[in-house]
Amino acid sequence: MIHPKLPAIWYGGDYNPDQWPEDIWQEDMRLFRKAGINVVTLPVFSWAKLQPSEDTYCFDWLDRILQLVQDNGIYVCLATSTAAQPAWMSRKYPDVLPVDIDGRKRTHGSRVNFCPNSPTYRTYAVRLTEKLAERYGQHPSLLIWHVGNEYGPHCYCDTCAAEFRHWLRARYGTIEELNKRWNMSFWGHTVYEWDEIVPPTNLNGDNRCFQGMALDYKRFMSDAILACYQAEYEAIKRITPDLPVTTNIWGLFNGLDLQQWADRMDVVSWDSYPQMNEPMSQVAMRHDYMRGLKHGQPFMLMEQTPSQQNWQPYNSLKRPGVMRLWSYQAVARGADTVMFFQLRRSFGACEKYHGAVIEHVGHEETRVFRECAQLGAELRELGDTLIDSRLRHEAALLFDIDTWNAVEITSGPNVDLDYAKQAQKMYKAFYELNVGMDVISPLSDFSGYKLVVAPVLYMLKPGVAERIEAFVKAGGVFVTTFFSGIVDENDRVTLGGYPGHLRKLLGIWVEEIDSLPPELKNRLVASEPFGKVAGEYSCGMLCELLHLEGARALAVYGDDFYAGMPALTENTYGEGRAYYVATDAEDRFLADFVRTLCERSGLEAPLEAEAGIEVTQRHKEGKRYTFALNHNARPAGVRIDGANRDLLTGRTFAAGDNAELEAYGVLILEEAER
Ligand code: GLA
Ligand code: ZN
Repeated sequence: MIHPKLPAIWYGGDYNPDQWPEDIWQEDMRLFRKAGINVVTLPVFSWAKLQPSEDTYCFDWLDRILQLVQDNGIYVCLATSTAAQPAWMSRKYPDVLPVDIDGRKRTHGSRVNFCPNSPTYRTYAVRLTEKLAERYGQHPSLLIWHVGNEYGPHCYCDTCAAEFRHWLRARYGTIEELNKRWNMSFWGHTVYEWDEIVPPTNLNGDNRCFQGMALDYKRFMSDAILACYQAEYEAIKRITPDLPVTTNIWGLFNGLDLQQWADRMDVVSWDSYPQMNEPMSQVAMRHDYMRGLKHGQPFMLMEQTPSQQNWQPYNSLKRPGVMRLWSYQAVARGADTVMFFQLRRSFGACEKYHGAVIEHVGHEETRVFRECAQLGAELRELGDTLIDSRLRHEAALLFDIDTWNAVEITSGPNVDLDYAKQAQKMYKAFYELNVGMDVISPLSDFSGYKLVVAPVLYMLKPGVAERIEAFVKAGGVFVTTFFSGIVDENDRVTLGGYPGHLRKLLGIWVEEIDSLPPELKNRLVASEPFGKVAGEYSCGMLCELLHLEGARALAVYGDDFYAGMPALTENTYGEGRAYYVATDAEDRFLADFVRTLCERSGLEAPLEAEAGIEVTQRHKEGKRYTFALNHNARPAGVRIDGANRDLLTGRTFAAGDNAELEAYGVLILEEAER
């Protein structure tokens, strides 16, 4: 996103001046300038201050801070402050307070603690947003709108129950159709009137007995919460049609249908909080997922901590250089902003031990501040060079929230089956090769890809099987794994043999699905090598017993009564090929298998690099920018394959050079497209 007011990498983040006396504000400005900060996000949680009572609004403090920010040449991501309603509202209008899945009415407090269907909440949220837009819409420092904050929690109150019934009526038309979609003849649950439907709470024992219903409730909640966002979005657009609007996403989160949400955002923004020892591939995948939500458009890193969190079990410090490295990792994967939570560390309540650019000591002589200021200076130097550049990939991973939810709420076949983990496991095999991959919805256009992988494609929504078939027919390579093609969008099994509508494409029939506890393993044995896949690998969790119907077996099970049955298959279909991995094999198998597929499809890393160096490439206006990110705590190198120049140091390299990166070091190599 090239913003006319600030065509540069936005650098800054959440700032809560209303928690501080005004004499501190001046000092904040001095420190922000010193750190190279050019944007502040505010007022994210100030509804109570902006509207102290039902009939009074109070903007003068916000006027003053915005003036001060403007005087200091800093821009604003203006938040609507609607994530935490004031106490007077919860007290006077109890419909604002949500009911949780266990049927308990919540009391006032915390945040994102409102019923999304509460008419009171929606009315007052939109009213506040309108007032902010009217008052500040023309403010010269205003860059973008930030609606709410990390939407998510679901509500099960009576208002929501009534709205759910309306939603179902609109979706299914008749009660007969609803009975069919949810298979309500099971356990005698047929309903005859809409009012007989109650939300799937735990009040009746287990909210997950009817997965069709539980899934629909999740979809309905996503829609209801989206309507809150949408109402503010529209209010803003009526007044400032040209300013972009976003809301910050939690990351890989299945409480909302993020694809649908992203369609309503002008730019995707998200909050990245990796754990210290989390595999970097998982962080990379989250960035890629955010980029994929808007089909490759750059996204905003709205929040990350400069140093530590407060809410993780172990809130480790980011080691020297790591904040910088992870910031560039976001940019390397498509972020056009680097923003923090928070700029000044609060001194009371639950985030006082959350890191900040300005720490409790209050001055700039801290490691964290110095690192922030160094990064600020570097980003300023980069100017608009990288802004709006794009990544180009020939591999895609299909990822779908509905499928995630369906796998999560299904009863059986194995508690260890975790959709997101399976996606991460597959993604990791590509990540370790530095073969770039987009993470996209199964309803996206696959035509630009050579290789599409869809681990645990459990649910096939209408049209998905046809799209995959067309992709393979035209020469694409498709890979899916166990527990795929099993159900439709209502979690009803597709009868006639697994994997349902993928059976023809894959040339197989899965007859049975064995489920193993973690201590029991089988073996996946490649009788003849298939590229790098050779010898045997451990496998387990789910082992599917399948028959070939046109496919050929590339590997078989080594043990148990199904020893010798296919565990890995390949089917030629049209001009392309479709692979099926019938069991959860060890990482080493996926590494060998994915390497083989990449080699055969001509997919390569942008640069040859030592292990632990992440490499990506962004493209813009005839130039390409290759990022090398050294996640190792020791120096490591990349092999340069053409003349280029590091944007960060100005160092030039020639083909054949071995460029060494220091521990946690970064290179951004600029060169003309070849
Ligand atoms: C989230 C929120 C922020 C803050 C951070 C702390 O991302 O959006 O308000 O609470 O977490 O890590
Ligand atoms: Zn509710």
